[in-house]
Amino acid sequence: MDQKSVWVGTNWKMNKGPGEAIAAADALASFKLPEGVRAFVTPPLTSLKDVASILQDSPVMVGAQTMYWEDSGAWTGEVSAPMIAECGASCVLLGHSERRQNFGETDWTVNRKVQAALRHGLRPLICIGDLLDEYEAGVSQETLARQTKIALNGLSREDLRQVVVIYEPVWAIGSSGRPADPPFVSEIHTKLRSVVEEIAGHDGSIRIPLLYGGSVSRANIRDYVALSDVDGVLIGRAGWDPEDFMSLIASVG
Ligand code: G3P
Repeated sequence: MDQKSVWVGTNWKMNKGPGEAIAAADALASFKLPEGVRAFVTPPLTSLKDVASILQDSPVMVGAQTMYWEDSGAWTGEVSAPMIAECGASCVLLGHSERRQNFGETDWTVNRKVQAALRHGLRPLICIGDLLDEYEAGVSQETLARQTKIALNGLSREDLRQVVVIYEPVWAIGSSGRPADPPFVSEIHTKLRSVVEEIAGHDGSIRIPLLYGGSVSRANIRDYVALSDVDGVLIGRAGWDPEDFMSLIASVG
């Protein structure tokens, strides 16, 4: 059976030019992860290669924030899974709500990206999330089940061992958001656990990590990580400073 680890990632979003990203990676490079913690960072594409190279001997994994599903071709402005892998990344965020909302990503394009990432040995970090009106209408679980099932559609058991699913309520993200209440996150993750077990089997041989993201901070990180169906967190603002990120990791290690 896959052991439960605590995952802690930080998504730098569109922050840190190459200079700042390299400085942040240098600061993370000497960090020793507490046992049982798996950490990752997703820099902008402009510094992916540099950050991956600085962190290549570190346990902190490096991922991209998005990618396209074709390997190459006339797709101006896009980057592919093999390009990201060649830069030294081991994982990639897919379906972040900022991509779904602002760049037209759909459940099915996320699925194509998940399959492309897996073909090239990248671990897909799949983001799902409910909108505020869905949350208020009480249909969050339906939305999240649909997004999860479509993202994982057609994956083999070997593929399923590689994926991570991250619940990021859209209404909880960023400075205008508010952190989701831990009891609500617990309820959602319990339901998500049954959704992924329907797909991966109930025998416990594959435990798909389920992470929470959305206004995670020093004040609440332990409340989320303590929940039995939460395997870790994805942090935005509170993790952008490398010292803060390291201290957040230490607080759950
Ligand atoms: O991907 C992480 C993110 O969307 C959460 O951002 O700033 O609310 O922690 P933040």
